[in-house]
Amino acid sequence: MLRVVVCVSGGGTNLQAILDAVDAGKITNTEIVGVICNNAGAKALDRAKNHNIPGILISPKDYADREAFHTAFLDRMNELKPDLIVLAGFLVKIPDAMTAAYSGRIINIHPSLIPSFCGVGFYGLKVHEAALARGVKYTGATVHFVNDGMDEGPIIAQQPVAVMQGDTAKELQQRVMEQAEWILLPQAIDDIANNRIEIVDGHVVRK
Ligand code: GAR
Repeated sequence: MLRVVVCVSGGGTNLQAILDAVDAGKITNTEIVGVICNNAGAKALDRAKNHNIPGILISPKDYADREAFHTAFLDRMNELKPDLIVLAGFLVKIPDAMTAAYSGRIINIHPSLIPSFCGVGFYGLKVHEAALARGVKYTGATVHFVNDGMDEGPIIAQQPVAVMQGDTAKELQQRVMEQAEWILLPQAIDDIANNRIEIVDGHVVRK
């Protein structure tokens, strides 16, 4: 069984999609062993509780400095002994020590077609606002492995989503979640749990 820890910051709809996919047998050989959240009020913590999954709150605000937070974050993560860390709307930069310790074992969902609208400052609704401001006709979502860069690791899967005339950022965000994120992320976890993909020369390939 692949031991998975999901990191979240807010609503946790991607977390919910993962939990539902495990329940429905769409993700197999997988156990969600913990949910780590940096935000006390996050609905994601309720979703974990409803599934009897330990929810762990750890916020940079509760530590004297970033280094102390990073140490505590890595310690809590190690206690859960994950085989895979899933960033599902986790808006805290992963410490370099964690990407080194879990190299090739951290994945992230990003709400655009990387390399568009990604990197520092592009998160949540801001991504969709930028896509609308640019006037793109298609956006989408990307699941990728996490390295020390921001949204730069090897791409696992992408799904395009059409932008409709008159879309608000919230409408576009909802469509990207429904048509791309909630499908791609569970599929990627299932692919990893069942050993279907690997990284060769910095690119993800199917075995
Ligand atoms: C999702 O759209 C996710 O792709 C995005 O935050 C949202 C979280 O929603 N992540 C990023 O922007 C990361 N750069 P959720 O909490 O309902 O899953």
